Amino acid sequence: MEKLQLDGVEACVFDAYGTLFDFNSAALAARDVLGDDWLRLSELWRQKQLQYTWLRGLAGRHADFWQVTGDALDFSLATLNIDQPGLRERLMDLYLHLGTYPEVVETLRQLKAAGMKLAILSNGTPAMLAAVVSSSGLDDVFDAVLSVEDVGVFKPHPAVYRLAADTLQVAPAAICFLSSNGWDAYSAKAFGFRVLWCNRFGQAAERIPATPDGEIEDLAALPPIVLPALPATTM
Ligand code: LAC
Repeated sequence: MEKLQLDGVEACVFDAYGTLFDFNSAALAARDVLGDDWLRLSELWRQKQLQYTWLRGLAGRHADFWQVTGDALDFSLATLNIDQPGLRERLMDLYLHLGTYPEVVETLRQLKAAGMKLAILSNGTPAMLAAVVSSSGLDDVFDAVLSVEDVGVFKPHPAVYRLAADTLQVAPAAICFLSSNGWDAYSAKAFGFRVLWCNRFGQAAERIPATPDGEIEDLAALPPIVLPALPATTM
């Protein structure tokens, strides 16, 4: 297979939930009460959370991601007939302290040490993102942590992707965008970023505009793709 290399990348911009932060880690941490239902609840919660972002976008009725996340949790708990005192509050609090995927911290530090500009671009509210970045010990890593709240509409509206290019003052074609969410990766490519789909969950290709520049299994594969190759020694 030909080696994937993206030249001229000045900034790496990451999706948050599912790409850096493991949204399943909230329900997993509450499996003492959820038991075997933890994964079903987590998957339904995530699906419904995303559906609500798209439904609110289409209907022109934006509410922030904290509300949407809570609404999706309420729907999911009701669907699975889970009714435990304090559980909703506990799960919402856990969402502010999600774990990172295993390779994330080291990869980000490696890119930063090499001088790469790094940012998050997420549906999350500024407060949600600040909490999860801080609880992961990543406060000093990002040049910008960008929330869709600055444009008032969720992904994949092009205004969201434009926010990253405008704030970082980097041309879209010099930004490498990373998302594990296929629909987000494809839509960011349609906007004009260079895109690597971090296909952690082995999902099938999407059938929407536009196909990402490449696919990686996790973020550990990223540094050699976007960092200029070290010059070969002359002797
Ligand atoms: C985000 C969601 C899409 O962080 O994962 O924007």
